[in-house]
Amino acid sequence: TEKPTALIMIFGATGDLANRKLFPSLFNLFEKGKLDKFAVVGVARRTLSNEEFQRKVKESVKENGETGADIDEFVSKFYYHSHDVTDSSSYLALGKLAEELDNHYGLNGNRIFYLAMAPEFFGTIAEHLKKDKLTDVSGFKRLVIEKPFGHDLESAKVLNKQIRKAFSEDEIYRIDHYLGKEMVQNIEVIRFANAMFEPLWNNRYISNIQVTSSETLGVEERGRYYEKSGALRDMVQNHMLQMVSLLAMEPPIKLTTDEIRSEKVRVFRALRPVKGEEVTEYFVRGQYDKGVMNETDVPAYRQEEMVDSESNTETYVAGKLMIDNFRWAGVPFYIRTGKRMMAKSTKIVIQFKDIPMNLYYQPEKTVNPNLLVIHIQPEEGITLHLNAKKSGQGTEATPVKLNYANKGIEGLNTPEAYEKILYDSLRGDATNFTHWDEVALSWSFVDNISAVWESTKEPSFPNYASGSMGPDAADKLLEKDGFFWWPIT
Ligand code: BG6
Repeated sequence: TEKPTALIMIFGATGDLANRKLFPSLFNLFEKGKLDKFAVVGVARRTLSNEEFQRKVKESVKENGETGADIDEFVSKFYYHSHDVTDSSSYLALGKLAEELDNHYGLNGNRIFYLAMAPEFFGTIAEHLKKDKLTDVSGFKRLVIEKPFGHDLESAKVLNKQIRKAFSEDEIYRIDHYLGKEMVQNIEVIRFANAMFEPLWNNRYISNIQVTSSETLGVEERGRYYEKSGALRDMVQNHMLQMVSLLAMEPPIKLTTDEIRSEKVRVFRALRPVKGEEVTEYFVRGQYDKGVMNETDVPAYRQEEMVDSESNTETYVAGKLMIDNFRWAGVPFYIRTGKRMMAKSTKIVIQFKDIPMNLYYQPEKTVNPNLLVIHIQPEEGITLHLNAKKSGQGTEATPVKLNYANKGIEGLNTPEAYEKILYDSLRGDATNFTHWDEVALSWSFVDNISAVWESTKEPSFPNYASGSMGPDAADKLLEKDGFFWWPIT
């Protein structure tokens, strides 16, 4: 494949994301020789000289443990523009700089606009880029945009309309960084490259699927944003539903962006809406209380900075999703995600149905169902839980696990999600980004639940201790159906 050439403009270049993820990822791409000609313009409000900005980039790359000798050459391609997002003259100056860099580096008029900043400015920036002619380019132009993409369906529509004035749908790369994770990308391969899974991947053989993404961190310094968001908007609308769509989609006829997206969209269309009174039957919300983690006392959510002392915001969600199509009718997809939980872990457990009759004595349970566990993070791999004969005399069955660890086998660290996402946006591959239809459908699913949660105060909050696995009600959600959460640690 051809190496990409582009001018990359990062809006929000002094922010946390740029520092922690974007600069180190770009450096890795540069070091691996994956970039052809490029230059970067850091765009942010504060005044900085190019040299000061370059020093920051260098620090951020070094802090990430990168020590490549080429670091000075890398940062020499970084420029800084002090910007006022609402002022046309500021965009005109940025446009002039962009043109100079384009000529100087021979970037073929290709431009990436990466919005890594407060979402309230996304729309304004897109409109100005068009009006002030930064999008009049001779090469490609692409908008790479961080979450949140709106706060609900209505605001997402408004935002989408604004950015669509300047960019067409194929020029918009909406980031869901879970789609850049190695093992999330592996879901499709595990399903569609193995004769032994795809034939069983349906309601005849699968009893339920459990997707867990637990975090140990609390809300940290993001109280202001999180109070208005909560776990449902922050994690479920995007990352959790994206994983569900990859698990549930039909095999695409080809591995093209459009074919994969259209299969994912069909899953969202088949997702059964949960509304009104059903919300309490299908969904559980939690909020963390104080607790002890790593032998340190941690405060309750309501005691965090910028958080209301009577906050009704959820920091945990568990839910049961039903996908009403031929493949999945009757199979619950259970999801759960929360902050300040026992472990940092993202895992998918596919539980197969029990065999028709159990011939073998198993001491603990009557039957150990087969499980396929996909470990997304921190470990990356898959485990298949089977039953085998216990060695020795007799016919006792015992559970055995077949393990595949990604890292162990390849002997290499898998590239960070952001490195892959950046590279894809530079190459023009939008497969691992979310199409507008996916965003809209997942908001409409989530909006029904928020509507109920926002209008009723949850009297049990806080309802789980920091360092636990969430509220008891989440266990009951599965018990009602005769299931339980498989442990994730
Ligand atoms: C982000 C959320 O999208 O995902 C954060 O806004 C959350 O609240 C993060 O902590 C989790 O990502 P990861 O990659 O650490 O699982």
